[in-house]
Amino acid sequence: MRSMSTRLGLAFAGLAFLALGAAVAVSIVTDSGPQAVADGDAAPEPVAGVTNIMNAVNHEEHGFYGMIKAFCDNPTDKAGWKLARHRAQMIAESGNTLMGKSPPRGADDAAGLKKWKQHCADFRDAGKGLSKALAFRKPDRAKKALAAVTAQCEACHNDHRSN
Ligand code: HEC
Repeated sequence: MRSMSTRLGLAFAGLAFLALGAAVAVSIVTDSGPQAVADGDAAPEPVAGVTNIMNAVNHEEHGFYGMIKAFCDNPTDKAGWKLARHRAQMIAESGNTLMGKSPPRGADDAAGLKKWKQHCADFRDAGKGLSKALAFRKPDRAKKALAAVTAQCEACHNDHRSN
């Protein structure tokens, strides 16, 4: 006959095992995006907002834009130029992503929304131009393309940023 404490011990061990299993299952579900997998035809659920994109992609210091700017002041090697191009591609893609969002100001009617989308498209195209310019691995050429991107930051902020 097992003692009471042995049985309790076994019960707790069983519970702990189940809890661990549940935790693993939850983390897998969270990591793999269950909705997109479960319903293949549904549009992916948006995650990042305008402010996330501005800080992670566009920020003058911490964003990809800031990283490319710093790189052009201090270029390294071929791998560095390549990485800068990857970042520029994501800046361009952020123009596409921004198109599906709405800004805090200036897009309340159809004309405003059209303007916002045009800014997003212009920004995307400036990002593409930056990516192309970086392929030449010439800091001056890259800086010119960066200036074109900066002009789009300002144009959009003038119409749609509230802070
Ligand atoms: C298509 C429009 C658009 C473009 C292009 C754009 N921004 Fe923004 N940006 C916004 C809007 C709108 C906000 C305000 C978001 C809010 O407060 O909800 C903003 C906010 C910001 C912020 C403040 C984020 C915060 O935490 O409050 C920074 C920094 C910023 N932008 C930098 C940039 C830079 C640098 C670029 C260019 C490389 C750029 N943005 C390009 C629309 C744009």
